[in-house]
Amino acid sequence: MRSFKAEVIDKLVKWVDLSESQIDELVTVPPKEEMGDFAFPCFALAKSLRKKPADIAAELAADLEPGYGSERVEAMGPYVNFWLLRSTFVTRTLQQIVDQGECFGSEDQGQGKTVVIDYSSPNLAKQFSIAHLRSTAIGNAIYRIHAFLGWKCVGVNHLGDWGGNFGQLLAAYRKWADPETVRDDPLPEFQALYARFNQELEEHKEIQDEARQCALLLESDDPETESLWQFFVDESRKEADRIYARLDVHFDESLGESYFAAKLQEVVDRFEAAGLARESEGALIVDLEAFDMPPCILRTSRGTSTYHSRDIAAMFHRQHKYDFDRLVYVTDSRQSLHFRQLFKTIELLGEKWCDRCEHAPFGLLSFKGAKMSTRAGHVIFLEQVLDEAVDLTSRSMAEKNPDLKARDEIAQQVGISAIIFADLDSRRTRDIVFDWEEALNFDGETGPYLQYTHARFCSILRRYGKTPAPQANFGKLGAEAEMRVARQLAQFPDAVARACDGNEPSLVATFVLELATVANKFYNELPVLNHEDQELVEARVVLVDCVRTVLRTGLGLLGMSSPDQM
Ligand code: ARG
Repeated sequence: MRSFKAEVIDKLVKWVDLSESQIDELVTVPPKEEMGDFAFPCFALAKSLRKKPADIAAELAADLEPGYGSERVEAMGPYVNFWLLRSTFVTRTLQQIVDQGECFGSEDQGQGKTVVIDYSSPNLAKQFSIAHLRSTAIGNAIYRIHAFLGWKCVGVNHLGDWGGNFGQLLAAYRKWADPETVRDDPLPEFQALYARFNQELEEHKEIQDEARQCALLLESDDPETESLWQFFVDESRKEADRIYARLDVHFDESLGESYFAAKLQEVVDRFEAAGLARESEGALIVDLEAFDMPPCILRTSRGTSTYHSRDIAAMFHRQHKYDFDRLVYVTDSRQSLHFRQLFKTIELLGEKWCDRCEHAPFGLLSFKGAKMSTRAGHVIFLEQVLDEAVDLTSRSMAEKNPDLKARDEIAQQVGISAIIFADLDSRRTRDIVFDWEEALNFDGETGPYLQYTHARFCSILRRYGKTPAPQANFGKLGAEAEMRVARQLAQFPDAVARACDGNEPSLVATFVLELATVANKFYNELPVLNHEDQELVEARVVLVDCVRTVLRTGLGLLGMSSPDQM
């Protein structure tokens, strides 16, 4: 089926001197119902026609006849507004969802294309803190959205298993650790050692030399140091995997930075061959002064790799192995400069794929005033947060629905999804302050509210008891409350496509919130099952079923579950 927007565009393209894609960008859904279903702003025509936008709108509206699909065309100020023919609109929208089910919205825009997404990528030997949650949740949603649109997705976890903090941890372990205590409960012990090191460093600067010494031993493959390092890495990965399983997050490739540290020479050779590398104070750098950026350091004066050069090696590897159309890095916005430098050096090498690389930065997450720094030792651990969310949810469900079977399992799903949603519902670049009450409130703009709406619509279908009739007479629907739902449903494909283009899962989050709101309104205003007109009941049941389907799909794209009851 062609979308209604396309029909409006078709009409306009014959009348205005703009291309289809230009019109596509301009046509919007007006903010208020009284303004129709679609609007075309005439500002862009004012210059070439030498007329006021409002005059152009009036002329256009008079010329454009309502036709198949739209029942009214009218000028409002500088806008031409279109009203859709209700019965045609509802019928076509619902029919499409009935036909496509959970595939509704999944156009094949990604067919034959590959996206590599670098997300989560925690620094190991530190406990998985809630600061890692954002990258994990956003990256996972970006992955699912691309996959839904037919892209081949490669999720990569660029594990931080190298670099200075390992030297510190190795030194701290040698100085203070009791191996037994560490083996019993490794991660909190690593954390404590790391925090102690940083505390003592303030008074005893010399311990930094010990850390450097340890890092050197590691780099020179000292067997004992290496086996200790391996122990740190293995234990951290076990913990991370446990959390990924709870969040239902997967990776197609997990390689540590150590893997890429070993490829330093290849990186150096490429830049030297291109005449781009030069010595500076003993280090090897790519000068980026001409681009107003500090240099990209390829090799330190001690001859070791850097965060930059390990990332460059990883880019070569990814390009070679996956020949991606898109490479997306999901990290907090404090790393923006790092990625700009990275992409610039690739551009300087003359690699055309440099413009396929994108950084999808996100804002900081703060949590009841606490800071997320492992250095200072105050850290909020993701796993504690997940447990707490599940626990609070379980208690509130016990009050609301004491007879619910499988409460523990459902509380897991609801509690964890609440955390994920709190992370995804605002534009990713915004900073967020996490608030328990807000995130778990069943009546707010939250995960539990969305899941509850989904479960509510499932329960209407259970009470109906039959399979919704795919051939119902949708022409029966057209009341304002039903139209609102249909209009929202029809926008799903567009919301997903935009979320994919901009790596912006919050567009799907906003979409599902709005869908839940109009769907609940519909259900509160109109009877679904208790009506004597059986044809109307059948049609409304299909509407309910479509809401359920699209909500479920949308929540799935965000990495949230949708239990049938709660
Ligand atoms: N490990 C880094 C951190 O926690 C993030 C890595 C992001 N990915 C990358 N390829 N640089 O800050």
